[in-house]
Amino acid sequence: MDIKNLRVDYNKNRIDFNNILKDPIDYFNLWFKEALQTEINEANSCVLSTVDCLNNPNSRVVLLKYIEENSFIFFTNYDSAKSRDILKNNNVALNFYWGTLERQVRINGCAEKISELNSDQYFNERPKKSQLSTLISKQSSNINLSCDLNLQMKQIEEKYKGKTIKRPSNWGGFKVIPNRIEFWQGRPSRLHDRLVYTFDQNWAVKRLAP
Ligand SMILES: Cc1cc2nc3c(=O)[nH]c(=O)nc-3n(C[C@H](O)[C@H](O)[C@H](O)COP(=O)(O)O)c2cc1C
Repeated sequence: MDIKNLRVDYNKNRIDFNNILKDPIDYFNLWFKEALQTEINEANSCVLSTVDCLNNPNSRVVLLKYIEENSFIFFTNYDSAKSRDILKNNNVALNFYWGTLERQVRINGCAEKISELNSDQYFNERPKKSQLSTLISKQSSNINLSCDLNLQMKQIEEKYKGKTIKRPSNWGGFKVIPNRIEFWQGRPSRLHDRLVYTFDQNWAVKRLAP
């Protein structure tokens, strides 16, 4: 496959630098709304990057579930590798790539656990099988090659038949409080539009070279 000659000349949209919004969360919401309408894959999926205790970076996809009080919320297992990274170093990055729109949004910020009450609220809204999988899976730990997760699911479904499932204390949400948000819009001839907001008491906005 001749991947070096795969080329797309981006030309679907542009950033209007004469009419920029003051608040990057408003801008995010505007782009997110369009992404939800156009993207084939989950528009709320994003790459979360963390750094471990040896300063090695790690990236993986998570799903954005809420944007609340200017922060971006996802849910996970608090014993997972990502959570262990965050608990040592809560500087994280989120990357949303919306290919259909030729857009990328890069968010840097600090991650903090959300309140137990808010984690409970979301957990209680999840489908029962998703709730049960949090009880079965010790996310990121080693399991036997022969481990039969479907069998475990059947057994636990039986155990919890007709019962309410309580959120395990090692599962919940993190909120990413942003201090930098960059909007990237692909443009022809690689002359892309980039707009970056940085937070220091207030949001300041600048244009970046492609
Ligand atoms: C589309 C997609 C959505 C995902 N959403 C989540 C999520 O919301 N939370 C989560 O913990 N893992 C999610 N995952 C799995 C993670 O990418 C990752 O495999 C898992 O969280 C373990 O990562 P860790 O070992 O670095 O902690 C998702 C994966 C994909 C591909």
